[in-house]
Amino acid sequence: MGGFAWSTSAFDSKSGQVILLVLLVMTASFYTGTFFGRNSSSTPSSSSELIGSPIFSNKVTLTHHKSPLKIPETGMNICPMEFNEHIPCHDPSYIKELMPNLDLSKREDLERHCPPLERRLFCLIPPPQDYKMPVRWPTSRDYVWRSNVNHTRLSEVKGGQNWVHEKDQLWWFPGGGTHFKHGASEYIQRLGNMTTDETGDLRSAGVYQVLDVGCGVASFSAYLLPLNVQTMSFAPKDGHENQIQFALERGIAAMISALSTKQLPYPSRSFEMVHCSRCRVDWHENDGILLKEINRLLRPNGYFVYSAPPAYRKDKDYPIIWDKLVNITSGMCWKLIARKIQTAIWMKEADQACLQHNAEQNLVNICDSVDDHKPSWKTPLRNCVALGTTGSEKLPPIPHRLSVYSESLNDIGITQEKFLADTLYWQDQVRHYWRLMNVDDTSVRNIMDMNALYGGFAVAFSTWPVWVMNVVPATMNNTLSAIYERGLIGAFHDWCEPFSSYPRTYDLLHASYLFSHYGNHQDGCSLEDIMLEMDRLIRPQGFVIIRDDESIISRIREIAPKFLWEVKSYVLENQQQQSEPLLICQKKFWAIA
Ligand SMILES: *[C@@H]1O[C@H](CO)[C@@H](O)[C@H](O)[C@H]1NC(C)=O
Ligand SMILES: *[C@@H]1O[C@H](CO)[C@@H](O)[C@H](O)[C@H]1NC(C)=O
Ligand SMILES: *[C@@H]1O[C@H](CO)[C@@H](O)[C@H](O)[C@H]1NC(C)=O
Ligand SMILES: *[C@@H]1O[C@H](CO)[C@@H](O)[C@H](O)[C@H]1NC(C)=O
Repeated sequence: MGGFAWSTSAFDSKSGQVILLVLLVMTASFYTGTFFGRNSSSTPSSSSELIGSPIFSNKVTLTHHKSPLKIPETGMNICPMEFNEHIPCHDPSYIKELMPNLDLSKREDLERHCPPLERRLFCLIPPPQDYKMPVRWPTSRDYVWRSNVNHTRLSEVKGGQNWVHEKDQLWWFPGGGTHFKHGASEYIQRLGNMTTDETGDLRSAGVYQVLDVGCGVASFSAYLLPLNVQTMSFAPKDGHENQIQFALERGIAAMISALSTKQLPYPSRSFEMVHCSRCRVDWHENDGILLKEINRLLRPNGYFVYSAPPAYRKDKDYPIIWDKLVNITSGMCWKLIARKIQTAIWMKEADQACLQHNAEQNLVNICDSVDDHKPSWKTPLRNCVALGTTGSEKLPPIPHRLSVYSESLNDIGITQEKFLADTLYWQDQVRHYWRLMNVDDTSVRNIMDMNALYGGFAVAFSTWPVWVMNVVPATMNNTLSAIYERGLIGAFHDWCEPFSSYPRTYDLLHASYLFSHYGNHQDGCSLEDIMLEMDRLIRPQGFVIIRDDESIISRIREIAPKFLWEVKSYVLENQQQQSEPLLICQKKFWAIA
């Protein structure tokens, strides 16, 4: 099993090291085999074998970004093996250097810190030893390959809390968590009871979009899926546990992020519930500034669910912390609607009179009205609460929510007709994509739309067993609010910097007019830099679909083979029925032998 062979070798004279790059392919049985067949006690199996014997000339050598950028004749260099989990803006060795200047009491060390350009790598990230094609959804909810996330630490620390266990070559996720040893489903049912006076589930409480803070291996999100509830899960990269890597390997929406000194990269009023189950955030510190960020993210009448010792324990400092939480939340006019079995739930009441009153009593600050439509990207936290004006209209349940036309689109000149045309257009395009990629449905689970506009691409996938991370570049108009109002999830990002995700975490990247948006080629935004980051994010044999101006397309077509991408060119129509060039690239499954 997993017997790797290698096809060719090159001698790197500089390092005097023999480099072997191999091309791997999984046998068909891996895809088609129903993992458990009739015997649910057996475990997935894999095998790999060599196809062809292409000659790789790429060298394995640590290479940094140099201006002007130059791709070697031999193809992009490959970073050494120890970089196989490299996340440029969460690099422990770089953050260690910054430590003396970071506010550790606010955990600023957990936030993004991108190294200056000359410190950035300019080589392809290799997979770890014995990397296997990921287990496919829905089996991956419960099992992933151990060799793909080779960290025993989480199971050692959290095994007793039923998060994850070792099982032969696999990790097994029984669906537990620190706070729900008896399983996430039961816990979710209990939250439904608490928000509905025992009369219903979270859906009847109006909860369809959830933000999970400090999500662990994202079992909460996984078990909300049967209710059609969409969850954005995040956790910091905390050294040894790789929670987000586990979540994404399982096929669950997640990204690295931290509540510290800056706003989260999500728009205001986007979630009906924010969940913290022992999420290790000190909500009561700094005047409750982190709870004010949660207040920003919650929709009117949204819930904050807090399952942590201050909610139920009477020893140590817990009662004092609880009192502080009560002070902060009542200052913001949140209402404690339930407190039992180790969980407290507050509701953000859309009560303007209460906020005005508390502001007069100096119990809370009201934010100066700032442009709420601006993308929250590198925006410092604000120790204040906005007086809600818009966004209080109640959204329909999912899936009806998918067709909601947000007033915020009107504000940036997108008419309802244009919105509708966009939705229909992407339905059509996604069908074409699938035909052209010629893959079966199960081979794609984690999708990112790198320039999501109004989310039409993601809507076209709404009935598929996939999830889509909708990314809106921070330099564009904020259409992410409108995407959230459609019941979808996503984040702001600036593609001049690497994304906060582990390597090999997406099966499909979609880049529609992304490169031309960054066309001015300022440092860190060159086409090669963005391609390198795409290569890091995409799984072996994953796809990259690129639409753009002819000149950009031909440049990418030229250099894609140097990234070890197979590239195919097509022509489809744009929304004006003019033909438009398109590239479908597939990352080869290669490894350092
Ligand atoms: C996993 O990591 C351990 C050391 O941390 C190493 O000995 C082992 O070979 C690794 N396994 C795989 C499959 O890479
Ligand atoms: C939720 O409430 C229903 C109806 O009262 C009850 O049958 C069920 O056991 C409750 N679930 C949990 C987890 O408390
Ligand atoms: C809560 O607020 C009250 C009145 O504003 C104040 O007396 C009390 O000390 C506060 N408690 C904490 C724990 O901050
Ligand atoms: C952003 O919105 C403004 C109107 O608020 C519009 O004039 C402009 O063209 C939009 N920019 C983009 C890139 O769509």
